[in-house]
Amino acid sequence: MHRRRFITTVTASLPGVAAAASPPPSPPAPAGDPLTILHLTDIHIRPEHRAPERCARALAEIRRRHPEIGLVVNTGDSIYAADYANITRERMLEQWAIWDEVVVKSLNGIPSVHCIGNHDPWWAAPEKEKDEMHGIPYVCKRLGISAPYAASRRAGWEIITLDNSNGKLGPEQQNWLFRHLDSLPAKLPILIASHLPILSLAGQYDGGNMGDAKPAIDKLATRQAPVLCLSGHIHLQSSESIWNLQLHCNGALSGYWWEPGEAGDGSYKRTPAGYAIVRIHPDGRNESTYFPLPA
Ligand SMILES: [Fe+2]
Ligand SMILES: [Fe+2]
Repeated sequence: MHRRRFITTVTASLPGVAAAASPPPSPPAPAGDPLTILHLTDIHIRPEHRAPERCARALAEIRRRHPEIGLVVNTGDSIYAADYANITRERMLEQWAIWDEVVVKSLNGIPSVHCIGNHDPWWAAPEKEKDEMHGIPYVCKRLGISAPYAASRRAGWEIITLDNSNGKLGPEQQNWLFRHLDSLPAKLPILIASHLPILSLAGQYDGGNMGDAKPAIDKLATRQAPVLCLSGHIHLQSSESIWNLQLHCNGALSGYWWEPGEAGDGSYKRTPAGYAIVRIHPDGRNESTYFPLPA
C-alpha cells in the first residue's frame, strides 16, 4: 500500500544547496503568505464511466479538504480526446460541454491558469483553418485563455504557462520565453506550467518528455532563484530536483482515463488517480504533495 502514501517534496529557498546529511541553514523569515495551488492535470473529462459525476464529486471533496486553494494550475488534456482523425464536431463539443458543466462549475470562484494538452485540439475540421473550432485557438477560447502561452505575477512568483502540446516548444515560443526570462529580476522565483514535462523520470520511464528541452533547461538553470516546473501528460507521478529546478509530473486526475485500468482501481502503472497541492512562498520555498483521489 506504500503507493497510497502522499508524496511530498519540499524545497529550501536557496538554489544550489545539495541534499546532504547535515541540516540545511535556516531559511530566511517568510516575506508573506504562501499561495496554495491546486495542480490538476489530465482531467480527460468524458461522458463514459460516470466520469462527470465522479469528477464533480472529487473536485467538491478537494475543495472541502483544501479550502485555502488560491489558484488552479491545469496542465492540460482537459478533455478525453479531440485530436484523433475520426473525432466528429459533435463528439468534441460534447466533451467541452461536460468540461463547462462539471469542471468550470466545480472550480467556480478560484482563479486559474491553463495549458493546452495534446488531446485538446480538434484537427478533423473539414475546412481546417476556415473553421473556428479547428486547432489551438478554439482550445484557448474554451479554456478562457487569451494565448497558448502567457505569464502573470502572483504571490511574488512569475507564473509562466507554456504550450508544448505538439511535443516541443519550437523556436518562436522559445524566443519569447528566453526574452521574457531576461526581462525578469534574476532572483524572482518562477513557476513553469506545461503539459509535457520539460524533464521527468515519469517521461523517461514511459516516454513523453518535451523534445527540445535542453536549451530551456539550461536557460532556467542560470537563474539565481528557484524554478518550479509542473506538468502532466504521462499520467505517472514523479518529482525531480537538479540545480535550482524542482520538477513535478503530477499524475492525472483521470488516472486510467476514468477507466478501471489494468489494476482495476483506476490507477495507471502504479500511480493512482489524483491531484497535487503545491505551496509557493514569496521567498522561493515551494512544496508539492500528490494526493490520491478520494474513493
Ligand atoms: Fe493525458
Ligand atoms: Fe497528454
